[in-house]
Amino acid sequence: MIKHYFIAAGAAIMTLSAALASAQNAAVDQQLVQRGEYLAKAGDCVACHTAKGGKPFAGGLAIDTPVGRVYSSNITPDKDNGIGSYSEEDFDRALRHGIRKDGASLYPAMPYPSYAKVKPADVKALYAYFMNGVKAEPTPNRGVDIVWPLSMRWPLSIWRKVFAPAVAVDGVADNSPLLRGQYLVEGLGHCGACHTPRGVGMQEKALTDDSTQYLSGGVIDGFLANNLRGDARDGLGNWTEADIVAFLKTGRNSHSAAFGGMADVVAESTQHMTDEDLSAMAKYLKSLKPFKEGTPALAYDDKTHQALRKGSDQSPGAMAFLNNCAACHRSSGKGYDETFPTLALSPTVNAENPASLIRIVLQGAEMPWTHKAPTQFAMPGFASRLSDQEVADVVTFIRSSWGNQASAVSASDVAKVRKQVPEKKTVEAGGIPLAKQ
Ligand code: HEC
Ligand code: HEC
Ligand code: HEC
Repeated sequence: MIKHYFIAAGAAIMTLSAALASAQNAAVDQQLVQRGEYLAKAGDCVACHTAKGGKPFAGGLAIDTPVGRVYSSNITPDKDNGIGSYSEEDFDRALRHGIRKDGASLYPAMPYPSYAKVKPADVKALYAYFMNGVKAEPTPNRGVDIVWPLSMRWPLSIWRKVFAPAVAVDGVADNSPLLRGQYLVEGLGHCGACHTPRGVGMQEKALTDDSTQYLSGGVIDGFLANNLRGDARDGLGNWTEADIVAFLKTGRNSHSAAFGGMADVVAESTQHMTDEDLSAMAKYLKSLKPFKEGTPALAYDDKTHQALRKGSDQSPGAMAFLNNCAACHRSSGKGYDETFPTLALSPTVNAENPASLIRIVLQGAEMPWTHKAPTQFAMPGFASRLSDQEVADVVTFIRSSWGNQASAVSASDVAKVRKQVPEKKTVEAGGIPLAKQ
């Protein structure tokens, strides 16, 4: 009898300690899952892996590549349609090596050449999050809209061998902000996927600062993803670290406001990052030498402002500016801080490639919503109001006023961009102010 009690008590103690251990495990895992969630934001996985109006991470977003249309995969833990049957090793092979569980190579529309920089300890946290912190969705994967023979995946394995870097190892922990910033920018942030120009094989010309091509500007969806190097005219030469942090956190600062693909990056990714990580990224970006050495900085020139006020400049560009733009961006070209961005000395306005300028005038734009800056100021699109020549006139005008120095834009440049502007994407906004809560 006594013996019996003893066994029962022993079993109870066993159960209790097992329960304690598993509760402890759950607590540890929960921390790992949370870290994984943060890293998934830093990597902006949701941006590509969620279709418009679809369930988070269930895939199906169409991504156009030079060979055709690719669809992102379902990366929820659903066993049949997602990555629920993936081991951590399978997950790692896809994330950092670009190889699917069935052995096929992924299209580099998945930025695995950047994610190759992610350290194994962070891969582990990401895996824990995708397995335990994401809701399984049964959305089936879509094939690719690419015609044979380009649809064959084996040439991708050659691409991978030629262009993808070796993957990172954990190594010694280094807490220097500069290295942390480099790690985030090059790796999970995959900033170069948009901001680095691409070569003939569509590979990024550099994946790290061993060439000044790295982050020197690229074109994505018809917008110029600006030069992020130290160039004073068209890069971040005149931005302080604090300016960069403010931009990534709120989508605006006294130099610019986010639009195009960057508005999504701010909304889905960077605004969720800690101030410490944002400062580290800013520090790293500020360490990048200019792409073009020796280009003098621009200085504000008040002549345009005076001429517009006196009405002494009656050129078509000046008139188009006064009639369509000055209400917000002002005749001084300086706009209103964090509301209507400055056009004077703006890197976007002075960039050699006018793609973003033409595009924003035709299509308009709306600032991202962020916790720290919830008012989304918008600029209306002028596609239906201005002819190609008028857009060319006004863009050429802003590129040569207030001290700006950039080349003229022609009506045929505008015509080319107009063909790409999706009609339904045009921001419809009437009246001023256009602030929308
Ligand atoms: C710029 C867009 C983009 C981003 C950002 C992105 N992915 Fe992908 N990902 C894709 C595309 C497109 C595919 C499918 C490629 C193909 O079919 O060859 C893919 C495929 C995958 C696969 C392979 C799925 C399978 O069927 O084996 C995994 C796993 C994955 N992504 C995880 C991630 C994670 C985790 C992140 C964030 C750290 C991320 N992706 C960020 C575009 C993206
Ligand atoms: C999906 C493509 C994409 C990715 C990824 C991306 N950017 Fe951008 N970025 C853009 C585009 C397009 C612009 C130009 C529009 C604008 O100024 O908001 C831009 C503009 C910027 C600007 C403003 C530059 C200026 O002179 O006005 C900064 C700063 C910036 N990006 C930083 C980053 C950082 C840091 C990362 C990585 C964490 C990153 N971007 C990732 C597309 C991208
Ligand atoms: C109703 C106010 C308004 C009017 C009118 C307007 N804009 Fe804007 N503009 C904005 C706002 C707001 C933004 C920021 C949009 C964003 O970040 O999504 C902006 C952004 C820009 C930018 C990008 C600047 C940067 O670096 O972020 C350029 C260039 C620009 N506008 C040019 C023009 C031109 C040229 C016209 C006239 C044809 C014009 N705008 C008319 C409000 C306006």
